[in-house]
Amino acid sequence: MSKTIAGFSKLNKSEKIDWIVNTYFSNKDIAKSILKQYWNTNEKLQQLHDEFIENTITNYYLPLGVAPNFLINDKLHTIPMAIEESSVVAAASKAAKFWLERGGFKTSVISTTKIGQVHFMYNGDFDKLVQFFNSVKPKLIEDTNTITANMRKRGGGILDIELRDKTEDISGYYQLHASFETLDAMGANFINSCLEQFAKTFKTEAFNFELFSDEEKQIDIVMSILSNYVPDCLVRAEVNCHVDDLVENNTISGKAFAEKFVQAVTIAEKEPYRAVTHNKGIMNGIDAVILATGNDFRAIEAGVHAYAARNGQYSSLTHAKIENDIFSFWIEIPLALGTVGGLTGLHPLVKLSLELLGKPSAKELMQIVAVAGLAQNFAALRSLTTTGIQQGHMKMHLMNILNQFEASDIEKITLTEHFKNNTVSHSAVVEALHKLRS
Ligand code: MEV
Repeated sequence: MSKTIAGFSKLNKSEKIDWIVNTYFSNKDIAKSILKQYWNTNEKLQQLHDEFIENTITNYYLPLGVAPNFLINDKLHTIPMAIEESSVVAAASKAAKFWLERGGFKTSVISTTKIGQVHFMYNGDFDKLVQFFNSVKPKLIEDTNTITANMRKRGGGILDIELRDKTEDISGYYQLHASFETLDAMGANFINSCLEQFAKTFKTEAFNFELFSDEEKQIDIVMSILSNYVPDCLVRAEVNCHVDDLVENNTISGKAFAEKFVQAVTIAEKEPYRAVTHNKGIMNGIDAVILATGNDFRAIEAGVHAYAARNGQYSSLTHAKIENDIFSFWIEIPLALGTVGGLTGLHPLVKLSLELLGKPSAKELMQIVAVAGLAQNFAALRSLTTTGIQQGHMKMHLMNILNQFEASDIEKITLTEHFKNNTVSHSAVVEALHKLRS
């Protein structure tokens, strides 16, 4: 059967599934039943999911877990996390509990500015372009008035538009570099609509600008798009305590633990191979909350990693120090988030997650997400610098291995008990299961 097809998107759902299973699967009935197993019996809910994207053939589930006991600026939160990695929610919960007993997390929003750019080519006199830009700037703003009306009413909107000369990078290349305040919206649609209007006005008005020659009037718009690099949409989260208060058991003194912890962070600050894994652990926490709250994790990932490399070398997003026996651990991270618009008012689990968080503003959500990242990093570094990561990781992974071998409920209970005092490894679990079954 041919693996190409014309007009696939025009087929109805069941025709799409028929084509997929007939083209790609030897056991068509099994493939079809797996796809159907994940449909929601509530037709309206299923239709909602079908319509999020094109060519939906079923739903892809991720577990939605919660990590309670997060004390943030003296307020308690239970944080929703959508993630498949077995140890992440457990680690977040553990870190939350640890810091609950030590004053909790302190957070603040540093800035909330977002950026968009109109990229264009102009071959002519730069001074004339500057004069044109200055003369047209009020009209650029004015022509977006209908787009920005609601946002302005609420206190947001366009903050500024600058003309940027980029001809040192690319001959003839300039930008309208615009900054925005989008309040509780992530703002992608708002920013892109403004930018496309700027581009239209800019191009049209160039024709009427008397100082331009005929060639100079031909401004060529390349594209208009927001930037997911948001170094001025920044949030900070931190924890502090006396080094002696870091002790949980007597295997290592608080001071020794703090020193080792700071060394681990310093390594991530200096060494890119480590920094990437260190930051990946932070993103375990961040992405899980981003997904649960219906935000765009690809945008966040792109922006965060660009920020981690802002000084020319990829580096840690978190920092730690000991001063006068006070241990401090903090993160500063760019997070352009929304709590209105997009999926936030559409996906029932997103709405539920936001309600669980007390219907936060975008600024409040930035702070909660930053805490989830810091907590995750704390948990990872604590394990790495003490017991090693595998102990906790494999304990959480035990259930995945048992499920892989279709362990019964009784087998799960027996082996979970057994592995409380034995090291979990894939082969050890297989052996224990084998023994139990024989
Ligand atoms: C695993 O998903 C994340 C860690 O590798 C993070 C880290 O090494 O800091 C444990």
